[in-house]
Amino acid sequence: MNNLSARDSGRAISTHRRRTALAAVAVGTAAVVVATLALAPGASAGTTLGASAAEKGRYFGAAVAAYKLSDSTYVGILNREFNSVTPENEMKIDATEPSQGNFSFANADRIVNHAIAQGMKVRGHTLAWHSQQPRWMESMEGTALRNAMLNHVTRVATYYRGKIDSWDVVNEAFADGGSGGRRDSNLQRTGNDWIEAAFRAARAADPGAKLCYNDYNTDNWTHAKTQGVYNMVRDFKARGVPIDCVGFQSHFNPNSPYPSNYRTTLASFAALGVDVQITELDIEGSGTAQANSYRSVVQDCLAVPRCNGITVWGIRDTDSWRSGGTPLLFDGSGNKKQAYNATLEALNAGGTTTPPTTPPTTPPTTPTTPPPTTPPTTPPVGGACSATVSVNQWNGGFVATVRVTAGSAGLNGWTVSTTLPGGASVTNAWSATNTGTTGTVSFRNVSYNGQVAAGGSTEFGFQGTGTAPSATPTCTAS
Ligand code: G3I
Repeated sequence: MNNLSARDSGRAISTHRRRTALAAVAVGTAAVVVATLALAPGASAGTTLGASAAEKGRYFGAAVAAYKLSDSTYVGILNREFNSVTPENEMKIDATEPSQGNFSFANADRIVNHAIAQGMKVRGHTLAWHSQQPRWMESMEGTALRNAMLNHVTRVATYYRGKIDSWDVVNEAFADGGSGGRRDSNLQRTGNDWIEAAFRAARAADPGAKLCYNDYNTDNWTHAKTQGVYNMVRDFKARGVPIDCVGFQSHFNPNSPYPSNYRTTLASFAALGVDVQITELDIEGSGTAQANSYRSVVQDCLAVPRCNGITVWGIRDTDSWRSGGTPLLFDGSGNKKQAYNATLEALNAGGTTTPPTTPPTTPPTTPTTPPPTTPPTTPPVGGACSATVSVNQWNGGFVATVRVTAGSAGLNGWTVSTTLPGGASVTNAWSATNTGTTGTVSFRNVSYNGQVAAGGSTEFGFQGTGTAPSATPTCTAS
């Protein structure tokens, strides 16, 4: 199989596996396709990482920096060896929205256009993150930040609609250490539902892209952080939050080595009904030890049918964010390292297509309960309410945040109604359930925010296409 046909195979599978419903039927079908490719008579061993991975129904990608696309050695290796790219910094929030409402896609476009011309997939990295925020966003909190974040997700995912295989919708939202909980950040302080709001906005903007949660130090199955992310993904799947994949960054070094239970981690997440992807692989070290760890990572991915592919975080050691640790597959001169040979051998040795053999070692625990608002200390007894709306409108779409305020008697539940202008449509809502999407649309409280103490308030939001409603919404207590 030459490079082009290998890439075509990978793209065909990718297209086949797109989408919204990655249900059991789709999984089964994909597994059959993988098996067919792996066992096809006459299938040859790939001579490059991308070609070999494609023969196993997977991709092999690299993080790419736009400013290096003029380096002929760099581009030569990229085009020869890889069939997927991730912009290393160019799609981050500070790069794509340097001042609020002004978007800048030139550098990311250089990478995306290169990838498309070469028949490569693109992993989008990343739409919502506590880090690498532009100054204007770093200083934001609360509703203004929530709106700005959703606007950013919507605008960037809309701009690249149809070009992205997988988006890292949310990056690194969990805390290190033993808590297994969320990382404190300005985004987290907008409310625990910020992650699911971001995923819903991304789905509405680009229904064809796989939507991933991406994090580091989630490779070892026994770590509290791994379990915290696992519980969130299980909760999302149970509640229908649109998540398709989980990215494991997999930055390994002597303090955080490749864990022997890595395959268990990949298989356990896959068993939740999501794809898994190794998104930022690098392994500090050299020689046989480094090569063996790369081999193990490849074998683990190939052993898990829903492991879509592997991305290394750079091409040559000198391109790495940790260049001193020589963690990549090519040396500074672009020569293949021992780790490269081990990786290619492991890819060519083929992957099993059998279901994961290691079941999750931790029995499922109770799904996380919806977190947000603190219940009122005295049970409310019903009464009138009012609603106000703040809108973030752009050409073609809007995000509306609605504040519901209880009257003197408090609320046991509420419904807010608003009338959209002609041509406008609600595409998703958070912290409320909508009835209707056009014309007069009503929003009913969800289980955790129906009770509002006398004089207290709660918020929900919705996103739409077209022009936002301009009139003050009506609120009815129940
Ligand atoms: O481009 C400027 C240059 O003009 C300036 O002179 C120089 C001075 O510091 O900075 C350059 O920008 C740097 C940029 O990389 C490009 O090299 C930034 O300072 C530096 O902070 C930035 O680091 C990136 C880092 O994310 C930031 O968080 C790394 O390249 C990038 O590899 C790294 O990638 C992250 C993933 O996004 C998430 N997971 C962890 C991973 C590794 O940290």
